[in-house]
Amino acid sequence: MATPSAPWWRDAVMYQVYLRSFRDGNSDGVGDLRGARSGLAYLSTLGVDGVWISPCFPSPQRDHGYDVSDYCAIDPLFGDLDDFDLLVRDAHQLGLKVVLDIVPNHCSSDHPRFQEALAAGPGSEARRWFHFAEGRGADGSLPPNNWRAMFGGPAWTRVVEPDGRPGQWYLHMFTPHQPDWNWRTPEVADLFDKVLRFWLDRGVDGFRIDVAVGLFKHPDLPDSPDPTADEDARDAINPLAWNQPEVHTVWRRWRAICDEYDAYDGKQRTLVGEVAVPTPSDQALYLRPDELHQAFYFDLLHTPWDASAFRERIGAALHDIASTGAPVTWVLNNHDQQRTVTRYGQSVLPGQEPDLDRGAARALAAALLMLALPGSAYLYQGEELGLPEVTDLPLDALTDPIVAATGRPEAGRDGCRVPLPWSGTKPPFGFTGAEADRTWLPQPDWFDRYTVQLLRANGDSCWHTYRDGLQLRRTVPALRDPALRWLADDDGILAFARGEGFVCAVNFTDAPVPAPFRGTPLLSSQPCDDGKLAANTAAWWIVDPAA
Ligand code: GLC
Repeated sequence: MATPSAPWWRDAVMYQVYLRSFRDGNSDGVGDLRGARSGLAYLSTLGVDGVWISPCFPSPQRDHGYDVSDYCAIDPLFGDLDDFDLLVRDAHQLGLKVVLDIVPNHCSSDHPRFQEALAAGPGSEARRWFHFAEGRGADGSLPPNNWRAMFGGPAWTRVVEPDGRPGQWYLHMFTPHQPDWNWRTPEVADLFDKVLRFWLDRGVDGFRIDVAVGLFKHPDLPDSPDPTADEDARDAINPLAWNQPEVHTVWRRWRAICDEYDAYDGKQRTLVGEVAVPTPSDQALYLRPDELHQAFYFDLLHTPWDASAFRERIGAALHDIASTGAPVTWVLNNHDQQRTVTRYGQSVLPGQEPDLDRGAARALAAALLMLALPGSAYLYQGEELGLPEVTDLPLDALTDPIVAATGRPEAGRDGCRVPLPWSGTKPPFGFTGAEADRTWLPQPDWFDRYTVQLLRANGDSCWHTYRDGLQLRRTVPALRDPALRWLADDDGILAFARGEGFVCAVNFTDAPVPAPFRGTPLLSSQPCDDGKLAANTAAWWIVDPAA
């Protein structure tokens, strides 16, 4: 049983505020800090423990803020430092934690350090901050190695030197506008220490670390054995570009900084990493006691709607991660992934439209399953509204750099980033002021069925299921027990128990089944009549442990 003094982040449910799409406070059609601040009371009512705020730093926004040009300021698009401080203050007054997104693998090509490196020329001190290298071939016109960028194309771009001639190449594992820092240069680590302290001094409760398997590259930058590995699959591993042993020195260093602050004021900070590695045991290495506090467990994002597949992936996480003492950090949605309602509604038959009703039922069942697991969970804004992916955005509205890099509109991430519908019956659905002429991505008319206002007013909506689930997580003592025991293993049914008498069962099939438990029903994702567990449904009970 977790002790009352166990750090908050071990079982927190955090809500990802994708800032440009959460709420707009200045009617320019892009969400911002003032808008987010005005939405905090809503999040407190929903019952989450805190927010993860996507990057709000000055940026040319070519990858929507994951291309940072100044790590210690706020982009005017989102407000200013006063707005940030007020958001942190109000969040804390409501009992909500604030986790800030930090991007240490790369910056923007507009960052002054990169501009300085370009101007300083080959062999300069300034170029050591990044990965500059001579090209191959007689005239250096071929990239220094065969690495591919995550969003497609080569991971290298050739620069024009100050004298006007084609010259060296620089490495970027994402777009050419995102040069990778060279973490073998000690000053890079010093710079990020200062960045952490800057935001910790402003009161943040932790950091979500972008691309936390990156940072260090193989020192010799040799050819990859599988050069196309990164072309299509975002999580593919180039063994020379990702997951290098030296990266752990950075997490130890950052952990020491957090520990120092914790020791000073008794508060607890968290570092939660985007650690996409092949296996949970690889991930556990990032969660050693002196490294990251948490890492997103991405496997469920890629698990098909199948009871044994879910059981296998959850079991692997509990066995390989939780058994080391670190919590598992569950996630089903984020700003890079197709929303669960659409993902689980996909038909197995090619060419058929997704069945969104079925997808919505499964998505809500998956959410209750996730909320019943030991560990922490991260929700993505709009999942509490049952929002599907917007798959019919006009082509000329698409903004994700992946679309331009791959030429494949369907590979883009805009569809999960459309501004949230808050109220009313037509765009902009209360997201921005009525005087705004448009939102940065257009909202479809059918968002009228998913507004916060509508769902809150309907006591049977998925919004209430999320809220009830979040409340029960806080109040049912069994849900603080870190252990999980698997129960029934019938075809298509997954069930487990926690603590004294709590059970969760999920029917993954498309037909109702007899309820596997009798007891006091706590919550179910769909109505369950006549002792049945409905199709594609999760339910929670308290059962008599002696029965
Ligand atoms: C992470 C972010 C993603 C971004 C990429 C490059 O995967 O979640 O949105 O595009 O890093 O920074």
